[in-house]
Amino acid sequence: MVKKKRVLTGDRPTGPLHLGHYVGTLANRLRLQDEYEVFLVVADYHALTTKPEKADILAAREYIREIVLDYLAVGIDPEKTTIYVQSDVPEVCELALLFSMLVTLPRIERIPTLKDMIRDQKIENPSMGLMFYPILQAADILHVKAEIVPVGKDQESHIELCREIARRFNGLYGEIFPEPEALIGDVPTLPGIDGRAKMSKSLGNAIFLSDPPEEIARKVMQMFTDPARIRPDIPADPDAPHNVVFRYHEAFNDDKGEVEELKARYRQGKVGDVEVKKRLIAALERFLTPIRERRAYYAARPHLVDEILAAGAAKVRPISQATLAEAREAMGLSARHLAEVKTRFL
Ligand code: TRP
Repeated sequence: MVKKKRVLTGDRPTGPLHLGHYVGTLANRLRLQDEYEVFLVVADYHALTTKPEKADILAAREYIREIVLDYLAVGIDPEKTTIYVQSDVPEVCELALLFSMLVTLPRIERIPTLKDMIRDQKIENPSMGLMFYPILQAADILHVKAEIVPVGKDQESHIELCREIARRFNGLYGEIFPEPEALIGDVPTLPGIDGRAKMSKSLGNAIFLSDPPEEIARKVMQMFTDPARIRPDIPADPDAPHNVVFRYHEAFNDDKGEVEELKARYRQGKVGDVEVKKRLIAALERFLTPIRERRAYYAARPHLVDEILAAGAAKVRPISQATLAEAREAMGLSARHLAEVKTRFL
């Protein structure tokens, strides 16, 4: 049997997942789990890089559960996908330490994601932990020797660094690591309900997968629409990017005929925003109802989440330990190397 290629990706536990995550990466992960061996890491050490306070750490523990519930709710199957918490596999830190010797500080300082994070969150003095972020991410990927990394566009520069680390390591010590490829979702970024370019928890413009029906209805009714269209009989362009209601119809309405019909009437000035929104609410309910049901099932059985994470860690740890041993052996850091030195002095 041909060995399945490994895929690894993950999320920081900073909040529940939303519709933007769904189109950006969750849909891809669902698709991949049938074909590849998929690993999903809940990166709690990465969350520490900007939020090291105890209260933040404890809040992140709650988010770990929420995120795992979101994974299970959308249909990630723990029989196919190994879900684990980063800090349950501490070997990854040792591998990251070894990798850190192969990366210069100026190289890290040039990474755009980190620059953006430092600017957006107004971090005056970035911690060493924050600068270490992409190196730890490379270790996440390489400790299971993943070859494919499905991520959003913003993570591309981290995967590039990971490839450089693999190349450098292999060049110095021997071929151990693959050079993983980023798999960037080809769907356009989902806009926020306020019309801004990106849906994000921190911008307060997100619809969460775990939102109850009343919340979905409220958020859709307040969605940004064309400000020039003050009456329903004004013809307008549903394909204009700022018409976010139609962007959601395209992404989530399974009744494509209805979407086309609404667009045609919108162009002719024959449909009001309220009707377009009401039909979107119905479509989102069709999409979210099974997700909500699966979520409720697991939320009512918290021991299942504990078991899934314990099984995930138990599966990953031996893989991680083997990779680390292999890396140390290749570098000349193993017990055998020490013993050989001793015999020379006998
Ligand atoms: N840095 C990623 C993010 O913020 C999360 C992450 C951690 C990750 N480790 C990873 C993604 C390994 C892909 C592979 O979204």
